[in-house]
Amino acid sequence: MARHFLSLADIPASELRAVLDEAHRRKKARVGFAKGRPDQDTPLKDHVLAMLFEKSSTRTRFSFDIAMKQLGGSNITATSSDMQLGRGETIEDTAKVLSRFVDGIMLRANSHDDLIALAQNSKIPVINGLTDYNHPCQIMADLQTLEEKGRTLKDLRLTWVGDGNNVAISFINAASKFGYELRLSCPDGYKPSGQDMERARASGGNVKLVDDPVTACAQSDVVIADTWVSMGDTDAEQKMKDLEAHQVNDALMSKADKDALFLHCLPAHRGEEVSASVIDGPASVVFDEAENRLHAQKAILKWCFEA
Ligand code: CP
Ligand code: NVA
Repeated sequence: MARHFLSLADIPASELRAVLDEAHRRKKARVGFAKGRPDQDTPLKDHVLAMLFEKSSTRTRFSFDIAMKQLGGSNITATSSDMQLGRGETIEDTAKVLSRFVDGIMLRANSHDDLIALAQNSKIPVINGLTDYNHPCQIMADLQTLEEKGRTLKDLRLTWVGDGNNVAISFINAASKFGYELRLSCPDGYKPSGQDMERARASGGNVKLVDDPVTACAQSDVVIADTWVSMGDTDAEQKMKDLEAHQVNDALMSKADKDALFLHCLPAHRGEEVSASVIDGPASVVFDEAENRLHAQKAILKWCFEA
């Protein structure tokens, strides 16, 4: 069976650890290389990845494209509206057809159920490039970033501030795998599902809801924000109002540890979920985080294809 990368909850901690180690190793091994130069070993030589997008993307699209090239392979990118998928061809038939042409599929999907259906009908690895439910590739890059800043994941207190949706869910899914404490400060109506929280706790994850963002950020080592209005959200105006008290700004960061780092998956909206002073200030590591999408995904691709 093909090895899919759909949710961090499904992958053993030891394998995720090995993926992060490989991401660090590959990043170090190409210091000084031109961006278009392949890695020394080109482990995915002659491999082709299909990249399918039902939603917009900057980081996921460019990082997977360059990742495949640096690993020695190639890719084909399409939006669903370029494909018969956008005219009603089923996801199941799409999976069966693409399995005949390419070696792997990365999908950014509106619905997580579609990602699962694609994987269930695919003979080749399927990688989750974000769904309404989760964003596992992002969290691998985020954790790589924290480690390269000298932090030890199992010793960290992470605080999520804002909407407890897809990116937050992947932090919840990874808590027991890497041993960090995760506090989530999300207003009513935006809390992560009880099922995800319970599953994380049942597998040993130290995850808790803390209503007040000030209390949640107290002595935190890492503060994390995400856009208030996610792709596909239809209630933008209401969400902006509901999340107003959950802006990460200097006052909130001052409650965290003095060496606390700020993460944001980007794209960001200065003056909404985060103040310009925080995202453009000394605690912010968001552009290293964005770069690490490339390095983390190279390790994810290799893990999927080597099975
Ligand atoms: N963080 C992230 O996934 O960015 P894109 O939407 O630009 O891919
Ligand atoms: N929560 C955001 C993440 C973007 C990378 C969204 O789903 O739009």
